[in-house]
Amino acid sequence: MSVSMTLRWLVILTMLALVLAASFLLFEGRIETLVIDLLSGTQSPTGLWVLIVTALALDVVLPVPSSVVNVSAGTLLGVAIGTFACWTGMTLSCLLGYWIGATGGTRALGRLLGRDYLARSAEVSERIALGSVLLMRAVPVLAETSTIAAGVAGLPLRRFLGVVALANLGIAAAYASLGALALEVDSFLLALCAALALPIAGLAGRALYARIKAPARAVAASGALTRTEAGVDAAAAVGAPVAQDMSQDGAPATLTVRQAFSVSYEYRVVFTRGVFDPENPALRDVFAAGAEARRQRCVVFVDRDLLAHRPALADAIGAYVRDTVEGVDLVAAPMPVAGGEGIKAGFETVFEIYRLILEHSIDRHSYVIAVGGGAVLDAVGMATATAHRGLRHIRVPTTVLSQNDSGVGVKNAVNFEGSKNFAGSFAPPWAVLNDFNLLETLPAATRRSGISEAVKVSLIRDPAFFLWLEANADRLKHFAPEAEEYMIRRSAELHMRQIALGGDPFERGSARPLDFGHWSAHKLEGLTRYAVSHGDAVAMGIALDARYSVLAGLLPAGMEERVLALLQALGLPIWHPDLGRRDAGGRLEILVGLEEFREHLGGELTVTLLSDLGVGVEVHEMRPELVAEALVWLAARGAARQQGQEA
Ligand SMILES: NC(=O)c1ccc[n+]([C@@H]2O[C@H](COP(=O)([O-])OP(=O)(O)OC[C@H]3O[C@@H](n4cnc5c(N)ncnc54)[C@H](O)[C@@H]3O)[C@@H](O)[C@H]2O)c1
Ligand SMILES: [Zn+2]
Repeated sequence: MSVSMTLRWLVILTMLALVLAASFLLFEGRIETLVIDLLSGTQSPTGLWVLIVTALALDVVLPVPSSVVNVSAGTLLGVAIGTFACWTGMTLSCLLGYWIGATGGTRALGRLLGRDYLARSAEVSERIALGSVLLMRAVPVLAETSTIAAGVAGLPLRRFLGVVALANLGIAAAYASLGALALEVDSFLLALCAALALPIAGLAGRALYARIKAPARAVAASGALTRTEAGVDAAAAVGAPVAQDMSQDGAPATLTVRQAFSVSYEYRVVFTRGVFDPENPALRDVFAAGAEARRQRCVVFVDRDLLAHRPALADAIGAYVRDTVEGVDLVAAPMPVAGGEGIKAGFETVFEIYRLILEHSIDRHSYVIAVGGGAVLDAVGMATATAHRGLRHIRVPTTVLSQNDSGVGVKNAVNFEGSKNFAGSFAPPWAVLNDFNLLETLPAATRRSGISEAVKVSLIRDPAFFLWLEANADRLKHFAPEAEEYMIRRSAELHMRQIALGGDPFERGSARPLDFGHWSAHKLEGLTRYAVSHGDAVAMGIALDARYSVLAGLLPAGMEERVLALLQALGLPIWHPDLGRRDAGGRLEILVGLEEFREHLGGELTVTLLSDLGVGVEVHEMRPELVAEALVWLAARGAARQQGQEA
């Protein structure tokens, strides 16, 4: 209730009390005479009955001192008829209030009560329930407000009537009995006290209730929010108050309103050859899809190691955009950035990119193209996702790993103080253009290492793809173009499917199925100061978790041998001495990776393991002694392989 309305009611009630008290003190004799006159039949009981009923019925729209009238009814008409009169009047008042609420209130009533009074009733109606109507019956002002609110809220009339009729009967009987008692003991003072005692008790009770319940209600409010979030019909609740806590003067102290909306993402992932060839329309089409009436701007960042192998690439990109794309201005020559994990070592490159974005007035309708390996895409992606809160980021991945995994995803990040991918965001790209030709200059080891992400996704999602990888391992190892293309496309597709259909594209939960084999991989990268590439570390992580799955009884024995055989056939490493490194206290350092893995996402530890080839399974615990046992097994296999290679 607004302060002005509360004041208005307080003034009315105080005046009434004062008038009654004053008239009692000043005109005691007259009042007594009047009462005696009434009782001695100078007023007809029917007339009194009608008077009482009318006064009480109008209580909802007029400041009738209902408790005084109620007590008087007992005094003047006796317990039975008095109760009946009170009950009839109060119940009619409830119906009138309900009708006002249900019909929205007429202009006249709005004027009479004040718009804020009606609005307040509507507000109360949001959280009203039959129980509240019942509880408020004994509280002055709120008793009337609650009936209007019940109408506004559209509570079922029959049930509403049932509840108020019953409550009114109790109240009417109590008042009328007090009134009759006052007459019996011959004390008008008792009648007056009785008239004021019940509403005062009601107000005090309400204040006490509010104080006791305040923290409990706050908890209930957050509980309600969680429920609605998890609920199916979340949209229906949008904008509605989830919970409202009222302070003692009736003003909202805490109001929680549900807010929910969803944003859909769509971006094209293109597989092509010669993406910057003037004849190739793929990139032009991407620009055309985002074309606007006004000219748009574009800057390009290129992996320096890639440029070292392809010095003409920068000019080719410049010529493509300048000469073949309409409506887009390339505002600077393509800029080289450091390639490899070094670019992610901190924020240096991110800040450099910010400066260029500022300098060239790149806005949210402009394009930032990143051409390079996963590390370059991650760092440039981090800068474009945060500059102006997000620019149009086009990725041109140039390694196997960035084409079959990282480039088609929704994440970016840089490392911070040695913590891998510590700072980053979820930011889907504007488009992804995979050019198979660009892979040709990759060092063989780097080119192979990316296949580990395809093995990973086949193992958790696609048994047929695993079989295909087994069958084509040798061709893949030697970069047979068709095999490599299919491997990249299928792996990218499976990653994209998991992101789009897996139910948690922005990893809000605790599960990261696409990070199978990664808890140890990330740690190993750090332990070796990134001397081991991400792809190679993932290959070893897969081998370790496949063996662990067998030791934990999840995967039938022998299956891990097939995983290992595939990794080896692809030319991927399965062992690195730092996997078995121990700290001064003799603890395996790789195990710290488990805790870091959990911390990165928060919540319960969730690691994906294998229950079959092509079937991932989530666990929430990894037993250190089994990890150690798996490492011993893997070390022996690694040593045997080394000997085989040396022999
Ligand atoms: N965002 C994600 O979802 C996600 C997923 C997986 C991996 N990653 C990240 O990706 C990074 C690994 O990416 P990567 O495997 O592509 O390696 P990389 O980006 O480190 O590149 C490896 C090396 O190859 C060079 N290079 C790139 N393209 C070349 C080309 N065509 N010819 C010659 N040299 C080339 C690079 O300059 C670098 O020296 C890691 O930082 C990893 O954390 C991110
Ligand atoms: Zn990975």
